[in-house]
Amino acid sequence: MSEKIRVMISEEEVEKRVREMGAVISQDYEGRDIRLVCVLKGGVFFTCELAKRITVPVSFDFMSVSSYGNDTKSSGVVKIVKDLDESIENKDVLVVEDIIDSGRTLSYLLENLKSRKPRSLKLCTLLDKPDRRVTEVQVDYTGFEIPDAFVVGYGLDYAQKYRNLPYIGIVELDG
Ligand code: IMP
Ligand code: MG
Repeated sequence: MSEKIRVMISEEEVEKRVREMGAVISQDYEGRDIRLVCVLKGGVFFTCELAKRITVPVSFDFMSVSSYGNDTKSSGVVKIVKDLDESIENKDVLVVEDIIDSGRTLSYLLENLKSRKPRSLKLCTLLDKPDRRVTEVQVDYTGFEIPDAFVVGYGLDYAQKYRNLPYIGIVELDG
C-alpha cells in the first residue's frame, strides 16, 4: 500500500493562524509567565512556532504519552513515556497539542496535570476533529476545526513520516 498527501491547510494559512493564536494568548496572559507543556512528538513544531508569536515570558517543558494505538486510531489506554522535568505547582500551564481526536489522550493528561496543582491549566491545539470526540475535553485555543480525516504535517505523522511537512495534508491511501 502506498499513500499520497493532498494539501488541506496551506503553509501560509497555518502561519497566519499561529500568529493570531499567539496574539490572543499573549493578551490573555498579560502580566504573567507561561509554562508551555509540549506534548511530544506531534506538538513540537506547533509549540515552537506558537512560542515565537507569544510576547509574555515563556518557559518550556515536554511530556510524551503513548496511546497504544495502531497507526490511525488511539486505543484509549494512555501511558506516560516521558514525564515533565519540572514541577508545575503554582505555574500558569498551557498544554500545546497537535490534534484532539477522540479526546482520550488529553482528558487523561489534563486530569493528571491538574492533580499537580498548577495555578491555571489551559489547552491549546492546532487541530481539532470534534466529530470524533469520545471523551469530553475543554479546549481553550483551537487553530482549525477539521473534518474526520487522517492528516499529517506540522508535527503530525503517519507511521512516523511527514512530520516535517510545512503544511497540513490529508493522507490518501491507494494500492
Ligand atoms: P486522541 O486521544 O484520540 O484525541 O488522539 C490524539 C493523538 O492521536 C494525537 O496527539 C495524535 O498523535 C494522534 N492523531 C489523531 N488524529 C491524527 C491524525 O489525523 N493524524 C496524525 N495523528 C493523529
Ligand atoms: Mg502521533
